[in-house]
Amino acid sequence: MENAAHAEPPTDRAERYAQVRAEIAAVIAGEPNVIARLASASSLLAQAFGERFFWTGFYVVDPDKQNELVVGPYQGTLGCLRIPFGKGVCGACAAQRQSIIVPDVHAFPGHIACDARSNSEIVTPVFDREGALAAVLDIDSTRFDAFDAIDQLGLEAICADLLTTD
Ligand code: SME
Repeated sequence: MENAAHAEPPTDRAERYAQVRAEIAAVIAGEPNVIARLASASSLLAQAFGERFFWTGFYVVDPDKQNELVVGPYQGTLGCLRIPFGKGVCGACAAQRQSIIVPDVHAFPGHIACDARSNSEIVTPVFDREGALAAVLDIDSTRFDAFDAIDQLGLEAICADLLTTD
């Protein structure tokens, strides 16, 4: 049976991602500040997907500690402040530089439970103009198995724009 989290037709979700991508691009155009860009993206994404997204935000690569992420702009309940590369889902994404979908976070070795209500998540890397890892976008859901390839494609397209456009 189809998971309730995917009850919305995939085409609608893909279209929603395309809309949010255009909204984010319009808002950040001409804004060079990284915090302003990431904060705008986290707000628009969280608003667009409502209660499906329980925590929506960024962990940025700490410029003073290249192998550690530090929390950046986000929407949601309190997130932990620092995540070493390789630790938890965000740290695994940072180490592998690839998106990771986790249908059940409780089954993910080393998962960092910032809020016990999170049950699934997707984490996508954000690269700068030089192709260096700058941040990861972390989205958590209270639902199990809330994310699939539609989310991955949509979020990767959004992340590709965040730090590379004028
Ligand atoms: N879920 C993350 C930790 C960050 S919080 O969920 C906001 C992880 O395991 O990497």
